[in-house]
Amino acid sequence: MKIGIIGAGNIGGNLTRRLTKLGHEVSVANSRGPATLTALAEETGATPVTVAEAARGAELVVVTIPLKNVPDLPSGLFDGAADGLAVLDTGNYYPGRDGRIDAIEDDGVTESRWTEQHIGHPVIKAFNGTYAQDILDKPLPAGDPERMALPVAGDDEAAKKVVRDLIDELGFDTVDAGGIDESWRQQPDTPVYGLRAGVAAVTDALAAASPERPATFRA
Ligand SMILES: NC(=O)c1ccc[n+]([C@@H]2O[C@H](COP(=O)([O-])OP(=O)(O)OC[C@H]3O[C@@H](n4cnc5c(N)ncnc54)[C@H](OP(=O)(O)O)[C@@H]3O)[C@@H](O)[C@H]2O)c1
Repeated sequence: MKIGIIGAGNIGGNLTRRLTKLGHEVSVANSRGPATLTALAEETGATPVTVAEAARGAELVVVTIPLKNVPDLPSGLFDGAADGLAVLDTGNYYPGRDGRIDAIEDDGVTESRWTEQHIGHPVIKAFNGTYAQDILDKPLPAGDPERMALPVAGDDEAAKKVVRDLIDELGFDTVDAGGIDESWRQQPDTPVYGLRAGVAAVTDALAAASPERPATFRA
C-alpha cells in the first residue's frame, strides 16, 4: 500500500520501520523537512518528503504529531485526496504539552473530532494508547493467545477496515470502538489507555470507560 506518515517521532518512526519491512511504499514527513530525515530513510528505505507530498496519492495517511501542531498542518492538505483515502490519527490531548484546547475541555469535543475539524478529513483513531516501543516489540501472529488488541474508532467503515486490516498485518488484533463521537472511550486515562491485553479485556475496558474528562488530563 502507498502510505504517507506525517510525524517521524516515537510513533511515526516505528510505524515507518514496521511498514517498510512489510513491503509498503512509505513516505515520511516531519516539521523540519526531508533533509532531516536522512537517517530514518537510510535505515528503512522510506522516502523523506514534505508534509504535502506525504498526503499526495497515498491510500493511507498517518497523522502522528502532537495535538498542538495539528493546526499548523497546511490547509487543504487532503483537498486532492483520492476517494477512499484513510487517515489514521494516533493523537492524544496532553494539556501540559499542547496547551488548553477549549473545544475539548469545555464543549466535550473528542480529541479526534477536533483533529478532523482542523485537517478537513475524517479520521480513524488507533494506536493512541499504544506504547511506541510495543509497535516494534509486541507483534504476534493471528491466533496467538498472547496477541494484543488495539481499539479502533471511526465513522467511515471502509477506512476503518483498511486500518484494521493493516493493524492485523502489523501483528495485533483490533476491537471496533465505535464512531469518533464515542472515541472518548480510548482517550488518555481511560481503562483501555495503555492496556496490553487481548480482545476480551480491551472490549471490557472500552465498556467500562466514563465520558468525564479526568482531572489529570485537564488544563
Ligand atoms: N510516544 C508514544 O508512545 C505515543 C503513544 C501513543 C500515542 N502517541 C501520540 O501520538 C502523537 C505523536 O507522538 P510521538 O510520541 O510520536 O511524538 P514525537 O516523538 O514528539 O514526534 C512528533 C513528530 O511530529 C512532527 N511534527 C510536529 N509538528 C509537525 C508539523 N506541523 N508538520 C509535520 N510534522 C510535525 C515532529 O517533527 P520534528 O521532528 O521535525 O519536530 C516529530 O517528527 C502524539 O499526539 C502522542 O500523544 C504517542
